[in-house]
Amino acid sequence: LNGAGPRHFLDLKDFSGAELRRVLDASAAIKGRRRKGELAAERPLTGKTLAMVFDRPSTRTRVSFDVAMRELGGETLMLTGSEMQLGRGETIGDTAQVLSRFVDAIMIRILDHGQMLELAEYATVPVINALTKVSHPCQIMADVLTFEEHCGPIKGRKVAWSGDANNVLASWVHAAARFDFTLNIASPPELAPPPALLAWAQQEGADIHVTTDAFAAVEGVDAVVTDCWVSMGDDDEAHRHNLLSPYQVNAKLMAAANPDAIFMHCLPAHRGEEVTADVMDGPRSVVFDEAENRLHAQKGILAWCLGANGL
Ligand code: CP
Ligand code: NVA
Repeated sequence: LNGAGPRHFLDLKDFSGAELRRVLDASAAIKGRRRKGELAAERPLTGKTLAMVFDRPSTRTRVSFDVAMRELGGETLMLTGSEMQLGRGETIGDTAQVLSRFVDAIMIRILDHGQMLELAEYATVPVINALTKVSHPCQIMADVLTFEEHCGPIKGRKVAWSGDANNVLASWVHAAARFDFTLNIASPPELAPPPALLAWAQQEGADIHVTTDAFAAVEGVDAVVTDCWVSMGDDDEAHRHNLLSPYQVNAKLMAAANPDAIFMHCLPAHRGEEVTADVMDGPRSVVFDEAENRLHAQKGILAWCLGANGL
């Protein structure tokens, strides 16, 4: 993987299922040692610095990467697009080459997926995709960890997505192919998964089913997943609300899934829009475990990128 070049973490589809499992196992093991208070003795990333480039807002990704890096002994630098010369027209390629001379890894959140890939092309240190308009791979590592903690191994299980087929859904599709589970996707035709994503899934032999009927999608599933109706960079809000209201995750929709199905959401959530308050704050919701697992998942990813913890 990635030959002799830097170990970029750009998309789940770039990895084999076995490699992703190794990263996830490391995350789970580090989480276990943290719980037992043993992590303080380990500082595998001592002397390493992560540059965190945020061209868009973030709460979870920002804090989890920062804390993950510190708990592994490393340091972080918070950089926002508008404060950098990037905001004044310096190219992403030049930025990549300069940052690579200073830091050991670069994490970037930027809507333009092509720019993220360009950063990786020019960087001589690992680059981590912390969300683009196209995908959100780090989130889904945390999500798979969360699913498995609540429901057991994800292999052969069924997950439903109800809502906008956005960046988060794209990484769920990649995960379904790599971790071998069924993914039912319900979305309005106007906000359906991109044909190229579905073609990729088919070529990989992934078990993906696309429908416009949320109730059909959730039948027999172990987890119901949704996300906001308006993602960063989206406009035309009223139109999206009209299209997406039939995909709201509410008690009636949850009742159509398996009786012990969990509810998942990457957050931030909008109660009364994509999810009702009773589901979001109810006993089947695992959304705050999911948020916490961003921290543990990032540690596995950072360790993999920097060749620590035997990865
Ligand atoms: N889920 C997620 O990525 O949240 P933030 O936008 O707060 O980082
Ligand atoms: N789909 C959302 C996820 C936020 C974490 C967005 O792109 O804004």
